[in-house]
Amino acid sequence: MFQTDLLEGRTILITGGGTGLGRAMALRFAELGAGLFLVGRREDPLEQTANDIRAKGARAAWFSADIRDFAAVEQALAAAEREFGRPFGGIDTLVNNAAGNFIARTEKLSPNAFNSIVEIVLHGTFHCTLALGRRWIEAKQPGTVLSIVTTYAAANCGSGFVVPSACAKSGVLAMTRSLAIEWAPHQIRLNAIAPGPFPTEGAFSRLVPSKELEERARNHHPMKRFGRPEELANLAAYLVSEQAGYVNGECVVIDGGEWLRGAGEFNHFLDLPGSAWDAMEATRQK
Ligand code: COA
Repeated sequence: MFQTDLLEGRTILITGGGTGLGRAMALRFAELGAGLFLVGRREDPLEQTANDIRAKGARAAWFSADIRDFAAVEQALAAAEREFGRPFGGIDTLVNNAAGNFIARTEKLSPNAFNSIVEIVLHGTFHCTLALGRRWIEAKQPGTVLSIVTTYAAANCGSGFVVPSACAKSGVLAMTRSLAIEWAPHQIRLNAIAPGPFPTEGAFSRLVPSKELEERARNHHPMKRFGRPEELANLAAYLVSEQAGYVNGECVVIDGGEWLRGAGEFNHFLDLPGSAWDAMEATRQK
């Protein structure tokens, strides 16, 4: 789909880069010539993904940090500097991918449960964006930020049963659009991707926790399938590349039409059998 040197010379920090969609993006960016710096909490997947990237012949390093802690984010950038031998590792692109979410009735949540999601998704994303943004501005170098949000943030409709995530992801989108303007004079672009259902261990174990629910979600989907990680990774590669140099403050939905189906008042007619349509049309013709 792309020229294989699309991201040549680029250095990309991905939060949550050891697993799931973060890992898929990291491997794809590496194929397109980028060096990767992976940040996450668990060492094993970070190390594994970094090794897999190196096996493709690309540069990769990792640092274990909890992005809820701003000091830990700063330590990660110091580690990038040590690993890649350039100020803040020469990182020119940030992908805010790390997230937390679970399905729960809101009245059952503890304040700490709410905090825990908001701190990962909103505060963590802000911490990384701030830490790199201020360095890019000081160094007078361009930068790109891509944040992974959700369709309920993109559609501005929220969602029951994932209230902490809905609040936090809306905040991330507000940050993306606000900074797209504020930092445009510094040549820093910020965009977002709003994915629908992509079957990753982290998300599906928490959000679609049984085979029955998974089947229900697939059947409810207009295309009757989930997203493929490479579909998201290719979109992300385009958005962080120079080919998307005039795309700024945008949020691209990639969900196979899932949220639109829930939005239209009569979209549930998708389940109506052909025979019912025939009967309705026959009545009209009389
Ligand atoms: N329902 C309700 N409350 C829950 C919960 C659930 N499924 N899972 C955790 N909580 C509550 C805990 O009870 C705790 O609150 P308390 O201290 O008042 O009891 C609070 O949330 C924090 O839980 P803890 O396990 O200590 O948090 P953590 O910071 O270690 O983990 C999570 C954060 C909960 C988001 C964890 O699921 C995680 O690390 N997820 C990361 C990956 C992920 O979610 N990926 C999917 C992205 S779509």
